[in-house]
Amino acid sequence: MLSKEAIQKIEYELTKYPADQRRAAVMSALRIVQTERGWLSKESITEVATYLRIPEIAAMEVATFYNMYELSPVGKYKITVCTNISCMLREADVIVDHLQEKLGIGFNEVTADGKFCLKEGECMGCCGGAPLLHVNNTQMHEFLTPEKVDEILKELP
Ligand code: FES
Repeated sequence: MLSKEAIQKIEYELTKYPADQRRAAVMSALRIVQTERGWLSKESITEVATYLRIPEIAAMEVATFYNMYELSPVGKYKITVCTNISCMLREADVIVDHLQEKLGIGFNEVTADGKFCLKEGECMGCCGGAPLLHVNNTQMHEFLTPEKVDEILKELP
């Protein structure tokens, strides 16, 4: 069942579109539910579709098309490292190798304790700070070095 907070946020998104175009809010609604729950289960996607009064397949198509939607648990901290061109030129591969070795996981894997998940990201529009990563799509860390990565991991409880 969608939380009261999620419904309030989805209702706000719906105000941006004509009343007969509830489908237009599907991306926002999926994002809102994912932010609250960490990932989108099939049940979560169904709940979004039901709330928007759209076919379940319409929400499923969106959730499975865009890679920002997580369709399996991602752990407490989802670390997304940009590996696109600017970051690649600024040695993002060193950062990726360091994270993979330190966490003992590859991309799209979760540590055994469920604390960390590692994702490969596309350009985050902040190439001037390359190489960089996001934690849970909110905290951005730029000008990474292996030492800085260690500090970031240490500060995540
Ligand atoms: S290439 Fe990494 S932020 Fe643009």
